[in-house]
Amino acid sequence: MPGSIPVLETRNIRKAFGGVVAVSNVDLAVRPGEIYAVIGPNGAGKTTMLNLISGLLSLDRGEIRFRGERLNGKRPCDRAALGMARTFQNLQIFGNMTVLENVMVGRHLKSRCGMLTAALRLRRAWQEEQAIEEAALRHLELLGLAERRDDPAGSLPFGQQRLLEIARALATEPNILLLDEPAAGLNQTETARLGDLIFTIRDRGITVVLVEHHMDLVMRVSDTVLVLNYGEVLAQGSPAAIQSDSSVVDAYLGADLDDA
Ligand SMILES: Nc1ncnc2c1ncn2[C@@H]1O[C@H](COP(=O)(O)OP(=O)(O)OP(=O)(O)O)[C@@H](O)[C@H]1O
Ligand SMILES: [Mg+2]
Repeated sequence: MPGSIPVLETRNIRKAFGGVVAVSNVDLAVRPGEIYAVIGPNGAGKTTMLNLISGLLSLDRGEIRFRGERLNGKRPCDRAALGMARTFQNLQIFGNMTVLENVMVGRHLKSRCGMLTAALRLRRAWQEEQAIEEAALRHLELLGLAERRDDPAGSLPFGQQRLLEIARALATEPNILLLDEPAAGLNQTETARLGDLIFTIRDRGITVVLVEHHMDLVMRVSDTVLVLNYGEVLAQGSPAAIQSDSSVVDAYLGADLDDA
């Protein structure tokens, strides 16, 4: 069951790009063990929010806390070391590297945050490498990709490349996993399997923040849904409450229902 003290919190966060305010006054509180979805129209600020949380962008204002620590000023690798992992809306796969190497890269990014620590660790490097490979393999197995371990990642079908990115994030053994449109480009069967996988990840004790446009998936897996519109919070609540919220239907879900 999700606990009541948030694992991830944002307070009054804001980010503008020139005249475009991408995220404005967003407060969210994600409880440990929950699946927390962020939805909203194109350009609503969802990816910007994940970039602020993971440290790829800096805040103009406000505060982000993760596992009790204030994240402001921390680098992405520091946040990874604290237990944060993510995937990207536009896949970030190294096509010429093998499937296994792609997962190992994630582990390296986490364990080699500073160059100095890397140098001090030189003597242990080989053992560490073995451990990284084992962890990577375990996660390839979980995602059903172990048989493709030595193939170039670019040779995988698109849906499997998305899973590979999730394997890479999971191999860092995060407390929280931020997924930016993991179902984009997946067919219906793949999307349903992704839903099962998200439950499996949650059952392993990992909190999930899911940015997604596939409403079937969002409504099936989420405990809480946050709706962003023009960078601001339009609504927040259970999937059932969100689906019957007239402001959300007007701004976003209405179009989705019409498409269905
Ligand atoms: N690096 C940037 N420079 C300038 N403007 C940006 C930048 N990144 C995002 N924006 C703008 O900020 C707003 C929010 O963009 P963002 O990518 O966060 O939306 P999104 O909710 O993820 O949309 P989508 O569903 O299409 O992925 C948009 O108006 C976008 O054009
Ligand atoms: Mg986006």
